[in-house]
Amino acid sequence: MDHPASSTRKNLLDSLSRQISECRDCRLGSTRTSAVPGIGSPDAEICFIGEGPGRDEDATGVPFVGQAGHVLDRLLLSVGLQRGDCYICNIVKCRPPNNRVPAPDEIETCSVYLYAQLAVLEPSIICLLGNTALRFFFGENYAIGQVRGTILVKDGQRFLPTYHPAAALRNPQYESVIQKDLLKLLDAIHDPGSLASRSARLQSSTNSRRTTAR
Ligand code: URA
Repeated sequence: MDHPASSTRKNLLDSLSRQISECRDCRLGSTRTSAVPGIGSPDAEICFIGEGPGRDEDATGVPFVGQAGHVLDRLLLSVGLQRGDCYICNIVKCRPPNNRVPAPDEIETCSVYLYAQLAVLEPSIICLLGNTALRFFFGENYAIGQVRGTILVKDGQRFLPTYHPAAALRNPQYESVIQKDLLKLLDAIHDPGSLASRSARLQSSTNSRRTTAR
């Protein structure tokens, strides 16, 4: 049987995915085919956040299944990770027409879902893929080229920004840079201090969920 905390997290993520799939709170809701809530393990220690769905994701409802997704899968495998070990989602859950950058009001409206997903997952570290994800958390003055590969901390949450996998399609030399950053990500989750503090956080949230359920 699942660990209770894990099954609770799964139920909460599933319920968020259902809400996202029905959401029409911004203009993207009227042009999308499918919303793309996110996918992965409710126990993931690593959460990857991209910008927003593209054509293939819009058609399937699954994040990172197009060309950039193939790059991401290849990079994950190269460091011994699989999709199922992680959680993968985006800043906005519906495809912006013609793959334009999502507008500030669309990001703001959709952010309730991302914050809710992160509150459930409590990831040990968040990997920010590209500038849109980086700037959502850290502001417009941040640039991926300047901070990639460094661990940033905000409100007790660790982040590791790296290039978006689509950038590696345009600049193949970025692929080895992203791979190096992913190895750093793995080092960060294997740091004993981080494992102990995550397990304490999960334990205390399990206890508080149990208390709330009574
Ligand atoms: N690019 C993204 O940022 N997210 C996806 O899901 C696919 C491509």
